[in-house]
Amino acid sequence: MWSSSVKTGSELSISGITAKQLAKDFGTPTFFIDEADFRARALAWNDALKEAFGDKAGTVYYASKAFSCTEVARWIKDLGIGIDVSTGGEMAVALAGGIDPKKIEVHGNNKSIAEIEKAISVGVETIVIDSMYEIDRVATAAAKAGKVQRVLLRLTPGIEAHTHESIATAHEDVKFGFSIASGAAWVAITAVHKQSSLELRGFHAHIGSQIFGFESFEILAERFVTFLAKYRDEFKKELPELDLGGGYGIAYLESDVTVVPRDAMQALANAVKKHCAAFNLEVPTVSIEPGRAIVGPTMFTLYEVGTVKDVTLENGTHRRYISVDGGMSDNIRPSLYGAEYTTILANRTSSAAHTSSRLVGKHCETGDIIIREIDLPEDIVPGDLLAVPATGAYGRSMASNYNHVPRPSVVAVKDGKARVIVRRESIEDLLALDI
Ligand SMILES: Cc1ncc(COP(=O)(O)O)c(C=O)c1O
Repeated sequence: MWSSSVKTGSELSISGITAKQLAKDFGTPTFFIDEADFRARALAWNDALKEAFGDKAGTVYYASKAFSCTEVARWIKDLGIGIDVSTGGEMAVALAGGIDPKKIEVHGNNKSIAEIEKAISVGVETIVIDSMYEIDRVATAAAKAGKVQRVLLRLTPGIEAHTHESIATAHEDVKFGFSIASGAAWVAITAVHKQSSLELRGFHAHIGSQIFGFESFEILAERFVTFLAKYRDEFKKELPELDLGGGYGIAYLESDVTVVPRDAMQALANAVKKHCAAFNLEVPTVSIEPGRAIVGPTMFTLYEVGTVKDVTLENGTHRRYISVDGGMSDNIRPSLYGAEYTTILANRTSSAAHTSSRLVGKHCETGDIIIREIDLPEDIVPGDLLAVPATGAYGRSMASNYNHVPRPSVVAVKDGKARVIVRRESIEDLLALDI
């Protein structure tokens, strides 16, 4: 839940720097990212993939949609892992961080021609093709550039991952990819084969996000290996790659568990190897794309309390509304997915009794709720600091300017030192786009 350099118990600190000091130096709301923890998590996934798959380990592509900025891209470069980008903007950040295009994989269900041409011209390793239109578009752009582009086909294997509807991505009724069940995948394969500027390397799927348990991934492995065998039987050659996406779950609340990379990769490798043996297929190279599981637990958001209001509900019970200086513009997940978070008083300890509270933001929306129901010390007053853990994934990256609230800064902390890696937006930034 908290990253490894955070201490709670008395006043919250990260790498020895107290919450009060952080608020004084950087203001609130701010996202604090634990650099050592980020690096350790990324390496843990890389090591686990290598240990489980040996010489068939492909690449860990960090899913940069979870959170990216130029400094984080530099960390990815240093670590030597890959990065998955799903827009031209994410690709620009990866390139600005100096990541070798050979370590970049390009996604998106509606890539523009400009995005495709840019990806091909910088020399990205793999483009994951999502539609019939894209087969033509990527083939045309590659031919124009005089290149043969490596591609994977994104398939929907018809798996109902046990997660929120908006973050389940591999059942039939989704906008992504080619369905295996309907035969669309087969039509796409035939179309790719006709393009001399495309080299089909294999298949990709991302079954959803915040998934616990390995069953859905094992079913995915079985369906994909079966499909690889069908391909081999039809075309008398084997495809060398699978990319099985991200989606590994993390702990947001104390009662949650976090997926252990080594266990997840072992389960995946066992399933892939077992089914390959059954079909007498060579084990393909397997890549993965964790986003949340790398960056999610590495950040917390620090807010300052602005107002406190007590209400009596119809059933006579009491609720306290605690308003902080951010809200749905820096964390849309509770409103979007009903995501749950926890928080602690960060600037002091309190021995006061706890009272039923709702943590809300400063936006003009009743639904601007960060935590719907939580027991918090009843002596919380304006000026107190609250820290919300595990906000690294899809927090700052989904932030908006709703109500023209400037987006928060991101501060990296390591070895007792804190530095801004994404500066806070200013009112000037907000006005700069207006003509
Ligand atoms: C194609 C693809 N890969 C990887 C991810 C990362 O998922 P997660 O952050 O849950 O690991 C996503 C998330 O939406 C995705 O769409």
